[in-house]
This record gives sequence, structure tokens and C-alpha cells, in this order.
Amino acid sequence: MEIVIVHDIAEAGSIAGAAIERLVTANPTAVLGLATGSSPLPIYDDVIQRCQTGLRVEAVTAFTLDEYLGLPVGHPESYRSFIKRVFTEPVGIADENLHSPAVNDEGVEALCESYERQIEAAGGIDLQILGIGSDGHIGFNEPSSSLGSRTRIKTLVTETRQDNARFFGGNLDQVPTHVVTQGIGTILEARHLIMIAAGESKARAIAAAVEGPLSAMVPASALQLHPHVTVLVDEGAASQLKLADYYRSTYATKPDWQSI
Ligand code: GLP
Repeated sequence: MEIVIVHDIAEAGSIAGAAIERLVTANPTAVLGLATGSSPLPIYDDVIQRCQTGLRVEAVTAFTLDEYLGLPVGHPESYRSFIKRVFTEPVGIADENLHSPAVNDEGVEALCESYERQIEAAGGIDLQILGIGSDGHIGFNEPSSSLGSRTRIKTLVTETRQDNARFFGGNLDQVPTHVVTQGIGTILEARHLIMIAAGESKARAIAAAVEGPLSAMVPASALQLHPHVTVLVDEGAASQLKLADYYRSTYATKPDWQSI
């Protein structure tokens, strides 16, 4: 696991944006995994800028991590609408190349299975962007999620619904209780995972994920099992990391030829 402590979160956006540019330049039909939430926005903004200066990503296929259940199709806070608005539309990835999980609870199990098959048929995800919930969740895999889980329906914990109420006018009752999310096992199959986190409110979750024991109680700790993980954190999110100085010196002395 590579931990990069950045001066500001725009720098994290640029490090991840450069990795996406390298990937797509080498393979224009690469497959990206996209996370929602506010944390990945600097990455999306950086890639949008790169596209304004020549990068082409139209041939990329994208998969979102998760989706609320029960919101009407096209609801502005559905994760599909969010990703279209902040990333795929501005960079010119067509709607048919953007895949997202089930949006209603009819036949949800078959839709989850079909989402897994769609990822497989696309050749798997080359680069998966991840945020982290304040309780250590990734996607919507809440604490106690099976570390081998696949795409499925989950019930949100109250802390997550409270965290996300800001997108629903601060009204907790408007935040769906159920979601569909790629499982932890699904996420671990992506070839490169980039997790981004900013601010002290994420410090406890980041420390538990990076330096704590592997545990279903901290779903993001499953990243410790993956061979290629980059964790991009600002000083706030890094503030509870015991080996912060080691991570700083490792990145400062990284050979020029070595990318993330
Ligand atoms: C939601 C998403 C996660 C995201 C988390 C944190 O729960 N399902 O993928 O990581 O929010 O969001 P934010 O980055 O806004 O703190």
C-alpha cells in the first residue's frame, strides 16, 4: 500500500489524474471505476482539465460503485446522475458506456448478478477510485460487510445516512435506507485502487484502514489485501497515522521512474 500525504487535496487530484491519463493514453478503452461523494471531486476536476488540453477519454467504459435504492430514475442525487454531472458528461463518456447498479428493488438480486457479469464482460476494472466513509466503509459496504462480498443490496447505518443528509437538504428522512453496492470482493478485483480522503473527519477511518487490523468492522481495511493500492490523504485525514513521517519520506525519495 502506498500512502501519499499531500499538501492540499488538489495535489491528490493531480496525482490521480496523471495516473488516469497514463492509463488511458496506453489503453484508450480502459475501464474506470468511479466513486461518488465529495472526496473524489478533485480527481474528476483534474481529469476534466486534462481533457480540455487534449486528453481523450471517450472510449473509456465506466462503472459506478453503488447506488441508492428507491430514488426515481434521474433523481439529481442518484449516484448515476451525480457521476454524469461531475465527470462523465464533462469528459464526453457516453451514457451507454456508463454502467451503474440496480435502481429499484424489483428483481434486485438478478440485477446485482448482472452488474457483476457486466464488469466481467468489460474485462474487469483497471483503476477504481474510492472515497471512505467516516465509519470506514467503501462503496456502501458498511461495517460487518463480508470481506468477500459481491454486488448486493445493503442497509445503511444511521451515521452514513446522517453524513449524506447534506445532499438531501439536510433531511435525514429523505436519505434512502437501502442501497446496492459492489461488494468488497468485487472492489478488490480492480487492478489498481486509488483511495482519496480529506479532512480530520476521515482521520480515524484512514488510520484504521491503513494501520489497523484487517477487519470486517473497517471495510476499507480490506485494501491491505490488494497488491496495488494508492491512498491519497491531506494532512487532516493523515493526522492519526502513526507512520506519517515514513510515508512522507518514502514519497519524497521515490524514484522518478516510478509512478503510483
Ligand atoms: C458515500 C459513498 C462512498 C463515499 C462516502 C464518503 O457513502 N457511497 O463511496 O466514499 O459517501 O463520501 P464523501 O467523500 O462525501 O465524504
